[in-house]
Amino acid sequence: MTSTRRIGMTVNGERYEADVEPRTTLVDFLRGTLGLTGTHVGCEHGVCGACTVLWNGKAVRSCIMLAVQADGAELKTVEGLARGATLHPIQQAFLEKRGLQCGFCTPGLMLSIDELLARTSAPTDTEITDTIGGHLCRCTGYQAIVEAVHLAIEKLRTK
Ligand code: FES
Ligand code: FES
Repeated sequence: MTSTRRIGMTVNGERYEADVEPRTTLVDFLRGTLGLTGTHVGCEHGVCGACTVLWNGKAVRSCIMLAVQADGAELKTVEGLARGATLHPIQQAFLEKRGLQCGFCTPGLMLSIDELLARTSAPTDTEITDTIGGHLCRCTGYQAIVEAVHLAIEKLRTK
């Protein structure tokens, strides 16, 4: 018999409670139990960054966290960026600068950028490249993503 544990957390401002097996990863919980499939699963080894979400405001790799570790936490996933039909400035900037192609890396990247821009409204080039460099993107060559970050900074300033 498999034992489960009751956990509760806030995700994108909504409260959730569920019974989970202690071995369930956070990304499997978000996707499989809560149906928030915007968070992608790539390497499952904490390397590619596709599964990045914000855990109490900090960017974490949800494939190497257990769901039980998020008990009591505030989480943000890509679904928490837009306000209804209005894209978040980071999303709008990615759209305008063509910062995505297949989109597989995009949700995780956007959450790391969201964390960066919550910490500082004027990140240095090094901070931007360090943030982006933690994510594997096989399509864009990264330049368009850098441009999208700069545009997002501008958009957030004038918001
Ligand atoms: S799927 Fe989590 S870091 Fe790659
Ligand atoms: S847009 Fe395809 S992996 Fe980044």
